[in-house]
This record gives sequence, structure tokens and C-alpha cells, in this order.
Amino acid sequence: MAQIVIEDLAIEYKKPNSDARFMAVEGISYSIEKGAFVTIVGASGCGKSSLLMALAGLIPLARGSVTIDGKTVIGPGSDRAVVFQDASLLPWRSVLGNVSFGLEMQRYGGGDLKERAMHYIDKVGLTRFADYHPHQLSGGMRQRVNIARALAVDPEVLLMDEPFGALDAQTREVMGDDLLDIWERDKKTALFVTHSIDEAIFLADEVLVMGKDPGHVKDIVKIDLPRPRTNDMYDSEQFNEYRKILRNHLAKDMADMRMQTVAEA
Ligand SMILES: Nc1ncnc2c1ncn2[C@@H]1O[C@H](COP(=O)(O)OP(=O)(O)OP(=O)(O)O)[C@@H](O)[C@H]1O
Ligand SMILES: [Mg+2]
Repeated sequence: MAQIVIEDLAIEYKKPNSDARFMAVEGISYSIEKGAFVTIVGASGCGKSSLLMALAGLIPLARGSVTIDGKTVIGPGSDRAVVFQDASLLPWRSVLGNVSFGLEMQRYGGGDLKERAMHYIDKVGLTRFADYHPHQLSGGMRQRVNIARALAVDPEVLLMDEPFGALDAQTREVMGDDLLDIWERDKKTALFVTHSIDEAIFLADEVLVMGKDPGHVKDIVKIDLPRPRTNDMYDSEQFNEYRKILRNHLAKDMADMRMQTVAEA
């Protein structure tokens, strides 16, 4: 049975400098199995972040519904954790302090809070840095802290909006490997927005391709690569086939966007 059910979802925003509203996302219906890893790709502005925010319960829906484990999402909840691209850590708190923070916020009462925080810091490979402050860490390390913070509250669903977007390609690949290791142990349902086609394929059971104006589901590409995923898969024929499918989808969007810019000019 599906864990997350999105039905006829629409998201509306107010246009800047006017009272007019516009549909950012419309008619999205999509279901996700418990424990699945879904990546989301699509042109800039197609509503990927909006979709994640709706799942997080952080923005109102103009229409439709989102249910998780049979419960309608009406606001944020401890069953979901979000990692944003530019997620900031509390600068005055150490790594341990930052990971503990989420648990404190939830009034975590299940045993030793520090022990639990350290467990997740260890999972993301930062044990030696537990006493460091954010400014003493690299961008990749800071994002690891964010992921540890999200995992520590033991959410059912992990929502990640370009969590590796600011990282260099190499660090990004390592972080992807690490995230999959953690995910394979915990099997949280994961939704992961990315602009990288390779990342989208490598991580996913399924790639949700979104189109824009307004944001909608354009295609769902099942990724039938075995797990655990290994780096040699990037060179496989199968991987290349997925690459072609996704590039094709995204190239069309880019072309449309260029036409639009020319028309508007
Ligand atoms: N708070 C807001 N108020 C008004 N419009 C918004 C707001 N947030 C997003 N939008 C608009 O909604 C549309 C979808 O934005 P969204 O951020 O969800 O896209 P995205 O797919 O995440 O893009 P990107 O890849 O650039 O992050 C865009 O047209 C954007 O300008
Ligand atoms: Mg976005």
C-alpha cells in the first residue's frame, strides 16, 4: 500500500506587486511506497520546492490533498523532516548542539538525548567534529550535520530539496553514496530534489519528472538498477538509457524556456 498519496494537488501563489494569483502547480496525483527513494527533476520554476513544501505541510494547498499513512497533512509534523539546500545551522551551537536542537524542539523523551544525537553524527561520519562550530566546517560537512539533524528525529519521510546543490561534484558523489548507505539501513521514504540527472538516477527507485506552466507530472521513470548502487553503474548501458530519457525531457523544457524568453523580449 502507498504511504504517501498526493491527489489532484494544486498550489497557488500571489503574484508580486498585485493581488492576482497564479497556479504554480496543478493536477499532481502521485503515490509513493513506504521506503521508496524518489528523486524529483524538472526545469527551474516547475514547482519542485513547492511540492516538497506542500508535503512538509509548510504551505496551504489550493486544491487536492496529501495523505501520509492515511492521515491528511494539515501542517508540519514530526513524521516528516526537511533538508533544504541552503539550510543554515545555528552558528552559536556545536555540531552536537545543532543535532540535539531538533530533538529538544520535539521534547524528545526517549532516553539520552546526547547519545542519540551522537549516534546520528556518527552515521554521517562527523564523530571527530562533534564539538566544532558551523564556521569551522566545510560545506559538505555542514550538509552532513543537516542530514544528521533530520535523521535524528526519526521521521517516517525525509524531504530533501537539493541538499547537495552547493557542493562540488566530487563531494556530491561521496555524499550521495553515504546517503544511500544510511537510507539502506533505515529505509526511510525519501524525496530528493536535484538538478543533476546522474544523481537523480543513481539514488532513485523512481524519478519524478516535472514539467512547468503550471507544474505537473510529466513522466515517472522507474530505475531498475540493482542495490546497493555502485559507482561502476554510471558507465553501464542501462544508466545511459535513463540518462537519455531524462536529458530528452529536460532539453525540451530548456528549449521552451529559451523560446519564451525570446518572445518576451
Ligand atoms: N512564496 C512565493 N510567492 C510567489 N511565487 C512563488 C513563491 N514560491 C514560489 N513561487 C513561484 O512558484 C513557481 C514554482 O517555484 P518553485 O520554487 O517551487 O520551483 P522549483 O522547481 O523548486 O525551482 P528551482 O529549480 O529554481 O528551485 C515559480 O514560478 C516561483 O516563482
Ligand atoms: Mg527549488
